[in-house]
Amino acid sequence: MSHRIEVTGDGSHTIQSQIFESTYHSRFGAIEESLTVFIKAGLQFFHAHQTEKVPIRILECGLGTGLNAWLSLCEAGDNQFSIRYSALELYPIPKDLVEQLNYPSIYSPDRMAQFQDIHNCSWAEWATISPFFELQKLHKDMLVWTPENLCVDLLYYDAFGPTSQPELWSESVLSKFVESLVQGGVFVTYCAKGEVRRTLQRLGLVVERLPGPPGKREILRGIKY
Ligand SMILES: C[S@@+](CC[C@H](N)C(=O)[O-])C[C@H]1O[C@@H](n2cnc3c(N)ncnc32)[C@H](O)[C@@H]1O
Repeated sequence: MSHRIEVTGDGSHTIQSQIFESTYHSRFGAIEESLTVFIKAGLQFFHAHQTEKVPIRILECGLGTGLNAWLSLCEAGDNQFSIRYSALELYPIPKDLVEQLNYPSIYSPDRMAQFQDIHNCSWAEWATISPFFELQKLHKDMLVWTPENLCVDLLYYDAFGPTSQPELWSESVLSKFVESLVQGGVFVTYCAKGEVRRTLQRLGLVVERLPGPPGKREILRGIKY
């Protein structure tokens, strides 16, 4: 797959995918988007409402640059709680591209090695990336993936948008991911399209529209009661 690095509004990189004709993050700011959608609306929210302090099980759909995974690792390290993170990715980005990404240098230089480890660890096996963060990368197609016995507290739905990949936003595909959520589980996505919101509601989530990062009025958070 052909890629090109771009600098976004907050100075952090994103990747332009030539195949999907889409960037991996908002052009207004990749780190800012990830922090707003996945860390604040997702991880911080779930952690604040957790009654029992056990490891938080996260599933990410579309590992991509590893930015969401690495920011989750930073959040867990800063606040001393544990995460077990599974991530699906069908088209891993090449190593030389990973090495050029500027996330550690502009956000947390001390965690440069962990950013590289996220990309260098083996697929399918659990890897300990930090004392607070275990990772299992799954080289799988979201379209055919099934939850099997996976129980998820927090779902980061970060597929390319419905214009680029409408099949990943269909009710049948989203239903598999919602099924993997435990009771009280949280689904977050940057995509606030009405059709996506209604689909998540039909699947039984209570969905809120939250203020988005720069350039995006709203994002979605769904809770499975
Ligand atoms: C919006 S980007 C994800 C950005 C990523 N979360 C990050 O922090 O960089 C969407 C990701 O989904 C992956 N993807 C596209 N189609 C897929 C599929 N059918 N199954 C699994 N991953 C897929 C792409 O390769 C890309 O990495």
